[in-house]
Amino acid sequence: MDTSFNMFIETTVPHDELIISRTDLSGIITYVNETFAQISGYKPDELIGKPHSIVRHPDIPKSVYHELWETLKKEKVWSGYVKNLRKDKGYYWVHAQVSGVYKDGKLVEYKSIREPVEHSKKIEMQNKYDSMRKEQEDSCRIVLYTSCEEAKKLH
Ligand SMILES: Cc1cc2nc3c(=O)[nH]c(=O)nc-3n(C[C@H](O)[C@H](O)[C@H](O)COP(=O)(O)O)c2cc1C
Repeated sequence: MDTSFNMFIETTVPHDELIISRTDLSGIITYVNETFAQISGYKPDELIGKPHSIVRHPDIPKSVYHELWETLKKEKVWSGYVKNLRKDKGYYWVHAQVSGVYKDGKLVEYKSIREPVEHSKKIEMQNKYDSMRKEQEDSCRIVLYTSCEEAKKLH
């Protein structure tokens, strides 16, 4: 099966549930809640111990995550719009807030709490990230319109 075709299938993020993950200081996942696992299409134990980039979608420009890590290193809170890749190669959009977890005043982990994104905002951010990638990385997203007959052959 052509997996690039699946990358266009969106999973809707529920409005009434928190989507939480935590990482160690190098970005290795240490905890996910059940909702995060469900939305990303993994089981919790498939995620724990893996780099958070396991859900990285190629549409998000590298500079977005560079800025995230620069912000975290300064022990500040980062928030932004993120499109993530599911295990089945579908995707989902979230607005994420990433910040430090402190124990006895010492930074020990990072946490991210996410919420759903309005449809119009997803379109705005997709366009913004498409043009950022074009400028910064010389990489473009191509959307192919084809007949349903041709589309069936992709599976
Ligand atoms: C708490 C926390 C949550 C993160 N959440 C995501 C996420 O949902 N999706 C994602 O692609 N990267 C996330 N990242 C950033 C990744 O660690 C990584 O920098 C990013 O996926 C880019 O991968 P790369 O650094 O290998 O290029 C998160 C980082 C932290 C510290």
